Amino acid sequence: MSETVYLNGEFMPLEAAKIPVLDRGFIFGDGVYEVIPAYSRHPFRLPEHLKRLQHSLDSIRLPNPMSEAEWTKLTHEIIARNDGEDQSIYLQVTRGIARRDHAFPQGARPTVFMMSSPLVTPPRDQIENGVPAITATDYRWLKCDVKSISLLGNCLLRQAAVDAGAVEVVLFRDGYLTEASASNVFVVRRGVVLAPPKNHLVLPGITYDVVLEILAADAIPHEVREVAEQEVKSADEIWVTSSTKEVLAVTTLDGSAVGTGKPGAVFRRVHALYQDFKRKVMRRAA
Ligand code: PDD
Repeated sequence: MSETVYLNGEFMPLEAAKIPVLDRGFIFGDGVYEVIPAYSRHPFRLPEHLKRLQHSLDSIRLPNPMSEAEWTKLTHEIIARNDGEDQSIYLQVTRGIARRDHAFPQGARPTVFMMSSPLVTPPRDQIENGVPAITATDYRWLKCDVKSISLLGNCLLRQAAVDAGAVEVVLFRDGYLTEASASNVFVVRRGVVLAPPKNHLVLPGITYDVVLEILAADAIPHEVREVAEQEVKSADEIWVTSSTKEVLAVTTLDGSAVGTGKPGAVFRRVHALYQDFKRKVMRRAA
């Protein structure tokens, strides 16, 4: 069955969804997005995703085309109209259709799009053995807290990882860890988990928040602070987190083993707690 998508007030098959070429998303990458995982047909942390969407829209000065209640209803409707217990919901809002001019158009209607894809979380092999990553200089812009659809920097960096046979690229700006091309990064040194603070240089990850909550609830020592490049390169463990990767261990960095070269003890604990946490939340939602 073809996926059912939502475009500007209507549900339709994916193949039928068409955007005019003058859409500012196409011309300028002028829009923002969210990726929301749904487990057993329940969107995970939906209010938090919608809050971050509001932050992104405010940052690009685009009025929110829908209320939180409308977004919530639409998200549930897309899930209901698509196959699969676990889905990845993608939504995008652009500044709409207008003659090409960098300045904001007057009176354009935002384009609103939502689709569902099967949620693909890491396979067992990656969870048990970890994944390779490379490092690179973070040359993206200075508003990485905005979940912008302008992802050229992220795409170039991610492709460099793929070209090197790696799954992610860990980024440094001015000698400090920021994040990865499509995930946040945590490191463990001498039993203490370190996470860079949320600021304009990183996306405020929903999974990042969940992991910090888990660390606090389980009394696992952790610090939110600037993490120097050398601390990452000599870490005992490195993890990447995102809505689709959940929590995943990086076991080689630029070809060298991270710690023992296997997912570490703290990772295994947090990964298990994350799965429990998800199950509990979903049971409450059911
Ligand atoms: N990416 N940092 C970046 C640059 C990201 O693109 C993402 C997510 C994250 C993690 O955020 P969250 O935990 O809310 O998923 C951090 C999504 C999954 C994507 O673009 O597909």
